[in-house]
Amino acid sequence: MKRLAILLSGRGSNFQAIHRAIAEGRLKAEIGCVISNVPDAPGIEYAKANGLPAYALSSKGVPRADFDLQVKRIIDEAKVDLICLAGYMRLLSPAFIQAYAGKILNIHPSLLPSFPGLHAQKQALDHGVKITGCTVHLVDEGLDTGPILAQAAVPVMEGDTEETLSARVLVEEHRLYSETIGVLLRGL
Ligand code: GRF
Repeated sequence: MKRLAILLSGRGSNFQAIHRAIAEGRLKAEIGCVISNVPDAPGIEYAKANGLPAYALSSKGVPRADFDLQVKRIIDEAKVDLICLAGYMRLLSPAFIQAYAGKILNIHPSLLPSFPGLHAQKQALDHGVKITGCTVHLVDEGLDTGPILAQAAVPVMEGDTEETLSARVLVEEHRLYSETIGVLLRGL
């Protein structure tokens, strides 16, 4: 069975959607480790409550390369096939990215290359686009710049706020991430 590492920093709803897809048999994989760089992130609480191998680290004040080495040790020990960033709010060091070239995935709440970085949904609203969406891509050393694997379009509605638009995009994120992971794992 192919194994996933999940890296998160917060709510962890994308991680929960992946966990649900596995539990319901829609995604053939197992979760080898869940790592948070924020010790009390709700996502890591969910991992613990569900009996998954959960690692709550604190990246506060730790140099990037040192912190990534801690993460790397856990990931290597867990023997995973794919690393899935799920709301991981920290840039990865070049050494980490090179160590797992082509094996790190991210989900971003816009149709990249539009609106990379923080507050993608607010950026979309501010620009007045009528269609936005989400993107699953491989992680390279840039910010949300890696090769695009899959996208889903989501309409922007009259009167949308950042919250209402984010909620509509999130539904597609949850579906698209698990599906794309499944496709990728089948090819490994
Ligand atoms: C999602 O919108 C994801 O696309 C972005 O950060 C958010 C994380 O949400 N990278 P969650 O922690 O998965 O609920």
